[in-house]
Amino acid sequence: MPAPTASADLMATLVSLCKRRGFVFQASEIYGGMGNTYDYGPLGVELKRRVKDAWWRAMVTTRADVVGLDSAILQHPKTWETSGHVAGFTDPLVDCKTCKARFRADKLEEMQCPQKPSRTPLENKCDLTAPRAFNLMFKTHVGAAEDSASIAYLRPETAQGIFLNFKNVLESARLKPPFGIAQIGKSFRNEITPGNFVFRMREFEQAEMEFFVPPAENEQWYAYWRERRLAWYLEHGIRREKLRVREHEKDELAHYSTATCDVEYEYPFGWGELEGIACRTDFDLKRHSEASGVRLEYFDPETKEHYTPFVIEPAGGIDRMALTFLIDAYAEEVVEGETRVVLRLHPRIAPITVGVLPLVKKDGMPEKAHELEAELRELGFTTFYDEKAAIGRRYRRLDEVGTPWCVTIDGDTLKDGTVTVRERDSMQQQRVPMREVANRLLAAQRDWGKGG
Ligand code: GAP
Repeated sequence: MPAPTASADLMATLVSLCKRRGFVFQASEIYGGMGNTYDYGPLGVELKRRVKDAWWRAMVTTRADVVGLDSAILQHPKTWETSGHVAGFTDPLVDCKTCKARFRADKLEEMQCPQKPSRTPLENKCDLTAPRAFNLMFKTHVGAAEDSASIAYLRPETAQGIFLNFKNVLESARLKPPFGIAQIGKSFRNEITPGNFVFRMREFEQAEMEFFVPPAENEQWYAYWRERRLAWYLEHGIRREKLRVREHEKDELAHYSTATCDVEYEYPFGWGELEGIACRTDFDLKRHSEASGVRLEYFDPETKEHYTPFVIEPAGGIDRMALTFLIDAYAEEVVEGETRVVLRLHPRIAPITVGVLPLVKKDGMPEKAHELEAELRELGFTTFYDEKAAIGRRYRRLDEVGTPWCVTIDGDTLKDGTVTVRERDSMQQQRVPMREVANRLLAAQRDWGKGG
């Protein structure tokens, strides 16, 4: 199998594919676009939905010890004072006095000077101001009055909504540590330097899970989640050599954390954080208890003691996961003298799982194809029906968006009830009874990547 393209243009190629095939569009494009803001098109929305489903399935529905939550984006402003975000959720900002550009003072060696994009502000000897703390939270006002009493913030992380609901969930779901509360939802950060397509945006989706444990079990659960989260990416097809787990140095740790690591991926622009796993100790629950006056503790009926659980937090970004799956899956290879572009996405991630293709638009083939399509959809496969163009061309279009299987209905289908199933990566074709297709694909999806 040829290696995916190693070209430095991979990002540009991918951005163009995303637009052309309806994964991701520039937001507000008809008005000239809005910087670093993106809309997901029909295939992109499906890709993201599949990433979220795969995460939720692994983190919630297949586990007895994790439940879900969907908390509000707007929370009481005291939330963000107590969590430390109002005082401390800042990046160091510097201005260039000449070109008026703004940079993150701690990332100058990664930035481009707008006057000379081939150089960093340091190389260009830009005339920079002293750094000042810039708060990343978006501020807004609730209600008609725009005074200090009406200030609210768009949440910069989904985690705090989970801490605020600790008692509600604990009591209503009758849980006992160790247990987790998971949430997927939008977060907002007024990033000084967003970029690299959907890698760093101001509006993005997070998938976070707060796992509450007895303090003595803290280390073992940290090790467990670090291993589990890396395994999740591998199980969904990301190449091992492109992933690493980087443990934070002591001086990198947030004040509330005793250990944190990042699952990193080697992007075309360098190694970057894909997801963080942090031990947040009992910091959040204790702070919110003190500030609200509501005890956020667990009463252990066996020891008859109250205690504040420690928290292990795996926190990832859905947009960043979707981008990583796309980058990792992208490959170009020469087949019969032509370049074939293929996204080698895992069937649980691919936006379309099965292409259903009548060889010609007549002789009862479209009807048979619709029949199969309906059966597959009923089982949860996302299908795409295509009766236009030569069959080879239809295969290529579906390869380019990562469709693992195509099923072709031809003249023989009407005679003997068999169809051709074509597999994306090997391009091998097999004649299969149409009534067996659904079961075979379900099994192939389940066993994908297991070498079977
Ligand atoms: N509650 C912990 C927390 O929010 P974080 O490392 O700031 O931790 C978690 O964010 C994940 O959210 C990151 O690993 C990344 O995948 C994603 N993320 C953070 N900022 C982002 C941004 N500006 N654009 C896209 N994704 C982002």
